[in-house]
Amino acid sequence: MRIGTPLSPSATRVMLLGSGELGKEVIIALQRLGVEVIAVDRYANAPGHQVAHRAHVINMADAQALRALVNRERPHIIVPEIEAIATDELVRIESEGLAEVIPTARAAQLTMNREGIRRLAAEGLGLPTSRYAFAESLNQLKQAIDGGIGYPCVVKPVMSSSGKGQSTVASPEDADKAWDYAMSGGRVSRARAIVEEMIKFDYEITLLTVRALDESGSVETHFCEPIGHVQVKGDYVESWQPQPMSSVALNKARDIAKRITDSLGGRGIFGVELFVRGDQVWFSEVSPRPHDTGMVTMVSQAQNEFALHARAILGLPVSVALRAPGASAVIYGGLDAKGIAYDGVAAALQVPQSELRLFGKPESFARRRMGVALANGTDIEEARERAKLAASQVRPVAAGE
Ligand SMILES: Nc1ncnc2c1ncn2[C@@H]1O[C@H](COP(=O)(O)OP(=O)(O)O)[C@@H](O)[C@H]1O
Ligand SMILES: [Mg+2]
Repeated sequence: MRIGTPLSPSATRVMLLGSGELGKEVIIALQRLGVEVIAVDRYANAPGHQVAHRAHVINMADAQALRALVNRERPHIIVPEIEAIATDELVRIESEGLAEVIPTARAAQLTMNREGIRRLAAEGLGLPTSRYAFAESLNQLKQAIDGGIGYPCVVKPVMSSSGKGQSTVASPEDADKAWDYAMSGGRVSRARAIVEEMIKFDYEITLLTVRALDESGSVETHFCEPIGHVQVKGDYVESWQPQPMSSVALNKARDIAKRITDSLGGRGIFGVELFVRGDQVWFSEVSPRPHDTGMVTMVSQAQNEFALHARAILGLPVSVALRAPGASAVIYGGLDAKGIAYDGVAAALQVPQSELRLFGKPESFARRRMGVALANGTDIEEARERAKLAASQVRPVAAGE
């Protein structure tokens, strides 16, 4: 792999589609390797816009707008950071040889819709998953539940993320509400939801899995230590690494991760989400990119998930070694306002071995993730306590206050 000089004809140009907090860290990792980075998002001054060579605001779901920008910027590599992208256009861009899509355009296409990835995992690869069905109306939803999914179950729009539109159905009376909620929370107007059997897991993990080139230039798969996490209403609030697992469960988790990532192909990091009960492991979903729960790796690994992604993308060697037990705790906006301020930052950083990432998002919402506290400890319990304590010290306030 040869890397050029940014802002010169020899530059290695990478375009991020989506420039939130995860994209921002990928960009920083790429910048450190002297890559020219173009950050794209749907709104101005997104976190990644603030650290890139150039920033653009477009509707990434608009195929024409996407194509026009790619023609203008001529990136060598396109890195999707979000799901809501005109992925059919990415497939065309890739097949024309205009740019390489990470990990592959097909992976972006399959994972933007829960149906694509679930059918591939369960029906294509035979991986263990929750029972599931798809519904295009409330009636179909009720039939699917009565026809075998059962109660309790989880209803989600086929296209959504961070728990948007997702709810639990405990009994027949809840189905109407869950359907309406799914239809209001989806990204597209098309009425389609997935209903899944609720898995009663002991814990859930993200298994960060890296496909990177080895010395001989072939793809090798690496597994990070498992990351445990807590989700509230389908949104991550806390994560830690390493999550203790039985060796049987860990081997199953790695086997599932290997099979799904082999099938998606390409180079880069994947966040494979799995449910674990005893020695049983279920595949839940996969992100073909860094994962929000993986922000913990900014303190727990020698090479964090963003550095791993950057290296893998560029064809460089990786190490998934753990540095020290770590944890992350999310800082929510808590209020709806633009240009907010953060009080209590010094108090947060008084917590031993703690760090903060404040994302710099221009607008806060009560449930918008605005930052994250990170901490190390002698074990995950101590790290979790510290991360939660640090996060609780940070108080987002209206700027005039
Ligand atoms: N079938 C299920 N059984 C148990 N918990 C589930 C199920 N589906 C989702 N969840 C819970 O909701 C969280 C978010 O669901 P997920 O499918 O990962 O949606 P998203 O794409 O929004 O992250 C999961 O991490 C898990 O905690
Ligand atoms: Mg998820």
